[in-house]
Amino acid sequence: MSDAARFDLCLTHARLSTLAGDAGYGLVEDGAVACRGGRIVYAGPMRDLPAGAAEAAETVDCRGALVTPALIDCHTHLVFAGDRAGEFEQRLEGASYEDIARAGGGIASTVRATRAASEDELVEIGLARARALVRDGVATIEIKSGYGLDVDSELRMLRAARRIGTALGIGVRTTFLGAHALPPEFAHRADDYIDFVCNTMLPAVAAEGLADAVDSFCERIAFTPEQTARVFEAARALGLPVKLHADQLSDSGGGALAARFDGLSADHVEYTSEDSVRAMALRGTAAVLLPGAFLCLRETRLPPIEAFRRHGVPMAVATDANPGTSPLLSLRLAMALACIQFRLTPEEALRGATVNAARALGLSDRGRLAPGLHADVAIWNAERPAELCYWLGGDLLRALYAGGRRLPG
Ligand code: NIG
Ligand code: FE
Repeated sequence: MSDAARFDLCLTHARLSTLAGDAGYGLVEDGAVACRGGRIVYAGPMRDLPAGAAEAAETVDCRGALVTPALIDCHTHLVFAGDRAGEFEQRLEGASYEDIARAGGGIASTVRATRAASEDELVEIGLARARALVRDGVATIEIKSGYGLDVDSELRMLRAARRIGTALGIGVRTTFLGAHALPPEFAHRADDYIDFVCNTMLPAVAAEGLADAVDSFCERIAFTPEQTARVFEAARALGLPVKLHADQLSDSGGGALAARFDGLSADHVEYTSEDSVRAMALRGTAAVLLPGAFLCLRETRLPPIEAFRRHGVPMAVATDANPGTSPLLSLRLAMALACIQFRLTPEEALRGATVNAARALGLSDRGRLAPGLHADVAIWNAERPAELCYWLGGDLLRALYAGGRRLPG
């Protein structure tokens, strides 16, 4: 057999959860996955395995273990310096997230630490966090800027994020979140800062091709819907898709605003109204659920899960890994919390961390086990998909492949 025709990887005797259809786990008992050139060529029953797959460069007998698409964490802020453990203590003593933000802590305190860090330092710190996600089955991570809030620091964060992807051999999608908070040099001049985001920062980011999408924090402690719309217009003019931190602490019509700009996703969405849900369904905007932030803020208002289901809005689940509201570095734990707190089914949670997470990133080339898709595959120390959400922690990952290559674990 010529080298070009040779399969790189073949997983045999696996219990597959392909998620290939629109519903259900897509279970295949005694299944196999064969990959070539970083892509899946075959995912289905052992008996139909293509000729030659058994002589792949690497063959793994899974002996009945569960095999799923590698997980996708579609909302993180994992490049930042410093930590906010002190604020955690303040919140335990009764201060609210909003009180702390208004007193100059919160995001602003992480901005101070991140501005002082070099690109190499940000890479090193971010790598450790990304490795933790990978150890739990994640092969694609979205990473936002938003702790620099000046041109150089935002570019540095985005470059660091891209370098993390290259260093680990995983997929990284970067999102420019210049409109995250008001930096001190623009105090009381939010509209001027938004001008700066639109006319200076965003063009600089786009010129270097450093962002795959643009995000904003639309909230009473951050930016108004009008200011957010200006950022989205600027993104649209540069051909960049948008997503939004929407309706996390109050309903500002964020879900509908994201939909109006054909947003990839509206994220958090605890306070999202049924009108917004309808608009999201119409424009194909996904809802990204972030149960780590819900837990850490001791939020009690649940996202409108039933309305998302009824209107057919795809739901994704992500860690929101960040120093303030969600210091969470396990996507499986986020999936478990989505089940326990939001009453997602384990199937919805698994879809939320694979196929719907890909959708929230505008990616159709991963998140399922199907021919032509990236060979991003996880082998688990589990037999049934529900176990991925059932165990809180633990060492469930047996092996992880990104583009057909085994990641060190
Ligand atoms: O997703 N809501 C805004 N941004 C982050 C929190 C950022 C921070 O507190 O550092 C979030 O919850
Ligand atoms: Fe976030």
